[in-house]
Amino acid sequence: MNNTRRRFLKSSLLGGAAVAAGLRPGEANAQTPTSTSSAALKILVLGGTGFIGPHMVKEALRRGHEVELFNRGRTNNELFPDLKLYKGDRDGGLEALEGGEWDVVIDNSGYVPRHVEDSARMLAPIASHYLYISTISVYGDMSSLPIDEDSPVGTLEDETVEEVTGETYGPLKALCEARVLSEVGADRSTILRPTYICGPGDRTDRYTYWPVRTLQGGDMLWPGTPDDDIQIIDVRDLANFTIDCVEQKIAGTYNTVTPAGTFKMGDLLEDCLAVSAADMTPHWVSTAFLNEQEVRLPIWEDPQGEFSPLLRVDGTRAAAAGLRNRPTRETARDTIAWWKTLPAERTETTRAGITMEREAELLELWMARR
Ligand SMILES: NC(=O)c1ccc[n+]([C@@H]2O[C@H](COP(=O)([O-])OP(=O)(O)OC[C@H]3O[C@@H](n4cnc5c(N)ncnc54)[C@H](OP(=O)(O)O)[C@@H]3O)[C@@H](O)[C@H]2O)c1
Repeated sequence: MNNTRRRFLKSSLLGGAAVAAGLRPGEANAQTPTSTSSAALKILVLGGTGFIGPHMVKEALRRGHEVELFNRGRTNNELFPDLKLYKGDRDGGLEALEGGEWDVVIDNSGYVPRHVEDSARMLAPIASHYLYISTISVYGDMSSLPIDEDSPVGTLEDETVEEVTGETYGPLKALCEARVLSEVGADRSTILRPTYICGPGDRTDRYTYWPVRTLQGGDMLWPGTPDDDIQIIDVRDLANFTIDCVEQKIAGTYNTVTPAGTFKMGDLLEDCLAVSAADMTPHWVSTAFLNEQEVRLPIWEDPQGEFSPLLRVDGTRAAAAGLRNRPTRETARDTIAWWKTLPAERTETTRAGITMEREAELLELWMARR
């Protein structure tokens, strides 16, 4: 496995570990349902208090559904004080769920096939639908383009491995998907494969780096060209589609991404400038220079790189099933607004991207060569 592959998978993995929620404690409970597009459901969310879970919980409550949670009670425990929490560990500790009844299950927190198999096996006879959050990192072969839901997934030599690393994350998620399908059946399950999930609450700062750095102004390094493709999914769009899927029992596997080829680095730049009104001067620095300097920047890849197809994943199936992507400018605006609410110690530096010192060094070198 080459470095690019490792890097892509690792950055996806880091996203999976996100825990900040972007919601205030009790916020979801205070909402009044404004629309109900299906009969009220009783939804069990496995992992409802990380980054993406709270957005799903909030959307489900907004539509008038009943939501219950299963987790260990460690992450953002104060977020939903009025929701029933079944406390337990996915690693062999599902007892709290025994005797429960739900219409549907949303599984956000499955990384290990054995854990997913256990929950899917236990819940399949109880719930009529099981939705599993996977990832585009499952794709293991970049040679047949474009990448769509039928493209081959990555495999592990040793399928008993349970350690989640940059290398194993994608293939393990692919095995988790397979367990859902075998335990629940394809007609009663939905697999969503998001790309970089971003927006309020994203703890990785991979997308956030760009609007936040723009806000700081001055000379800013932008990689490659304005025409380089990127793809994201706003966490709120993913949440909306997730609840659509469980309401309408939309079965199948779906890449959840901005439409391929529609979002470019130049669009991101324009979004960042528009929402920050900052006095920032962009400098487009060539991919060759960045490669030579071994500079990696979040959510962007060398367009000629082996794994750049993962930034042009086909999302037409999800769009046809109802996924709606909000304008990316809204994502930038709300990300900045959320960032400004965070405590100073959290916003001292971004968790992804390069420091301003390193950026200044690189820009000096780049300009001296021109
Ligand atoms: N972020 C991205 O860009 C990205 C991209 C593609 C796919 N994904 C997928 O999105 C999901 C990540 O969602 P996330 O970042 O919101 O959450 P996460 O950090 O993966 O999971 C957090 C939630 O799961 C619970 N949890 C964690 N370990 C548990 C365990 N052993 N037993 C029971 N509950 C457990 C946590 O509560 P407790 O700690 O209290 O147990 C919390 O509610 C993953 O499936 C990931 O693969 C993410």
